[in-house]
Amino acid sequence: MARSIRLSYTKRYPPKLLFIYLLILVTICMIAIYTHGEKISYFFRPLWDKPPPPFRRLPHFYAENVSMEHLCKLHGWSIRSQPRRVFDGIIFNNELDILEIRWRELDPFVTKFVILESNTTFTGIPKPLYFSSNQARFAFAEKKIVHGVYPGRTASCGSYEDPFVHEAEQRRAINGLLFFAGISNDDLLIMSDADEIPSPHTVKLLQWCDGVPPILHLELRHYMYSFEFPVDYSSWRATIHTYGPGTLYRHSRQTDLIFSDAGWHCSFCFRQLQEFAFKMTAYSHANRVKRREYLDPSRIQKIICSGDDLFDMLPEEYTFQDIIKRMGSIPRSASAVHLPKYLIENAANFRFLLPGGCLRE
Ligand SMILES: *[C@@H]1O[C@H](CO)[C@@H](O)[C@H](O)[C@H]1NC(C)=O
Ligand SMILES: *[C@@H]1O[C@H](CO)[C@@H](O)[C@H](O)[C@H]1NC(C)=O
Repeated sequence: MARSIRLSYTKRYPPKLLFIYLLILVTICMIAIYTHGEKISYFFRPLWDKPPPPFRRLPHFYAENVSMEHLCKLHGWSIRSQPRRVFDGIIFNNELDILEIRWRELDPFVTKFVILESNTTFTGIPKPLYFSSNQARFAFAEKKIVHGVYPGRTASCGSYEDPFVHEAEQRRAINGLLFFAGISNDDLLIMSDADEIPSPHTVKLLQWCDGVPPILHLELRHYMYSFEFPVDYSSWRATIHTYGPGTLYRHSRQTDLIFSDAGWHCSFCFRQLQEFAFKMTAYSHANRVKRREYLDPSRIQKIICSGDDLFDMLPEEYTFQDIIKRMGSIPRSASAVHLPKYLIENAANFRFLLPGGCLRE
């Protein structure tokens, strides 16, 4: 049976023709892989990539108006007679609105706001010093700010410099700035990006309790474009350190311990459409901007109102089940509960970050 089918098959397609068809098929496959290669490889991630080792989640207790002594005790810690000093260290790109919310939230607990900005992006494009030219907006924290400018290198035409190298250099530079700001042993140091905001009660707890582990990752609720689109609790890169002789500023995995539900991470939470395009070309994954039309303002506006992906990518997940679960748009939330206080108090000025406010200027 099988043989007769094969016979008639070869009869209808002489070898030469078969070869041409095969060539066309291979060409189509190559074009598909070339244009959608990243998508295809992301879809098959469960086959080629292993998830990072799992974190150990430290339970986190909090309710309004419960005494600090009781909260410390619930975590197995004891209360201090004096709070630790807190240093907040960030490398700044262009997230001015998020920076204002961050510093207003943390101001009551922070001793120094240490901020480093560069005159080039991680991808080597010259950029304005957004913080320097908007300092008036941060006058409320003037006495606490320690600001450094990192002299960036521009990528010369045709050469390629790894954006992750630029990023690592700036993370090294911020160590010097922290030293200059007067950080010393037993102070708390927040290492995070500007858009990874620890909740104030988390910082207060860690500064008031003794027995806190020296390095803690912070599990942050991850939002995309605004607080209208909560993604999940996958954000883990932010850390709080008890400063010691070996402390170095990093933004990567440093320990297995993560403190649950410790704040917010709002990615691409910009006021203006042009800021989205800037960030898309500036940040370390800028190679994801594969086509010019990705930066088209009307496309960006449509995507941030529907909760879709700016780079048209598949979710980074490690099982097929999780990829399929996370495919498609982020479900919209109508909750503006448990968000930064300053955001709610100034809701009129931050409509774009709140439910129903997706249309940008
Ligand atoms: C919290 O405690 C303060 C003073 O102890 C009190 O004035 C305030 O009403 C309390 N707030 C709540 C929500 O219970
Ligand atoms: C960045 O600043 C450094 C030091 O001031 C300077 O040498 C360099 O030319 C600047 N780069 C750009 C792109 O402005």
